[in-house]
Amino acid sequence: MSAKPHILILAAGQGKRMHSDLPKVLHEVHFRPMIHYVLDLAKGIPHSSICLIVGHGEKEVREACSSYTGVQYFSQAEQKGTGDAVRRAEPFLSQQKGQVVILSGDVPILSRDSLDRLLSSPSADCVMMTARLKDPGAYGRVLRATDGKVTGIREYADCSEEEKKVEEVNAGIYRFEISSLLSALKRVKSHNKQGEYYLTDAVGLLTQEGKVLPCELKNPEEMTGINDRYALSQVEGWVRDQINREWMVKGVTIQNPSTVLIDHESTFGKDVVIEQGCRIVGTKVGDGAHLKQGSYIEESVIGPEATVGPYAHLRPGSKLGRKVKIGNFVELKKAEFKDGAKASHLSYIGDAEIGENSNLGCGFITCNYDGKDKHKTTIERDVFIGSDSQMVAPIKIGQGSYIASGSTVTKDVPPDSLVFARVPQKTKPGYAKKYKKNSD
Ligand code: UD1
Ligand code: CA
Repeated sequence: MSAKPHILILAAGQGKRMHSDLPKVLHEVHFRPMIHYVLDLAKGIPHSSICLIVGHGEKEVREACSSYTGVQYFSQAEQKGTGDAVRRAEPFLSQQKGQVVILSGDVPILSRDSLDRLLSSPSADCVMMTARLKDPGAYGRVLRATDGKVTGIREYADCSEEEKKVEEVNAGIYRFEISSLLSALKRVKSHNKQGEYYLTDAVGLLTQEGKVLPCELKNPEEMTGINDRYALSQVEGWVRDQINREWMVKGVTIQNPSTVLIDHESTFGKDVVIEQGCRIVGTKVGDGAHLKQGSYIEESVIGPEATVGPYAHLRPGSKLGRKVKIGNFVELKKAEFKDGAKASHLSYIGDAEIGENSNLGCGFITCNYDGKDKHKTTIERDVFIGSDSQMVAPIKIGQGSYIASGSTVTKDVPPDSLVFARVPQKTKPGYAKKYKKNSD
């Protein structure tokens, strides 16, 4: 194909089968709205323009796509079918020459390779992507004459029992000669079960008067259209597997990978171990780090050979240096741990900086919020903090200090100090026995 094609993405439908207030194309597939996958695919191939047909939840969809520049929007106020949707871009398309690629906003995992095959197919009025599925579900069926020639597409709702048995289906992804498409669309009627103007009927008309070629997907999974939340979970599983596989091939150990969720942005060094049930988003993980079972990590940096978890929660802005240890049931938020620092058990550490080799005992808590503002806790290097202590921020603990267990520290501590900040113990021997007797 010589000139760059125009690209048109259909995204105006409500997605009735999602049973949701959120427009279908904004439902997240593995941490991102599904329409972003389709826009990325469109942006990734040479093109003359990208048109997005919006309608249901138009305002939200436009907002969610605002980071994609150079996209032209066309409104389809009433969702009268995929054929009608394409016609909303007619004022623009009729001024263009060449070809248009049509993508569906609810088919997010089509690969670049498959799209390249569609683009490099021989010249035709329409090239349609197809697949053969053992369970063809409710996809439109590809109809062929006895000589094998494609004669049209029948929507599932309009299929006879015989036609429902056809395993060859329409993926909803096409390349059209613009002039052929527009002339066929003008003649499409809505005489069908759903009373809609089907884009598929335009394909049918072109089989009669022009040249229509199928382009069969090598990997049929790629055409999965997300019509309900079950299909969404299947597609998510596919994306998750792709990402995990990529990291495993690059030297990351992932135990029980179907339980590990890694987003598109996270990165890992070599010999990282990720145990089952971890969720890692927007995070950079250094060589040899070990993320133990069930850890939930967001927008953080984890240094080499650090260990996290089991069941730790690193909220955004956490930064761990080399060989830091964050143990079970520890929650961090905007907390920096310098090399070798540790918080091994049951802690909350927010808005804090912890110096090299300092050790925070079990149950340590930063009291960082006074009900109005957040305050910072600074603990310098080589500090030892006994179990069940609290730091009331803003506060600074000087290097090399010892804080006794059970202390509530409210004032800054100079370096190398020993701090007891707890009520002195009173012991009254025999008192309990006496008390019990009196209350009998
Ligand atoms: C469509 C195809 C079907 C194919 C399947 C593949 C038609 C008539 N049918 O069916 O042959 O097997 O995709 O996934 O084309 N949309 C609009 N405006 C509308 C209607 C739909 O913009 O008025 C958009 C939707 O937002 C969606 C896409 O078009 O992104 C497909 O619509 P959908 O209703 O999901 O079509 P299917 O029934 O899946
Ligand atoms: Ca669909």
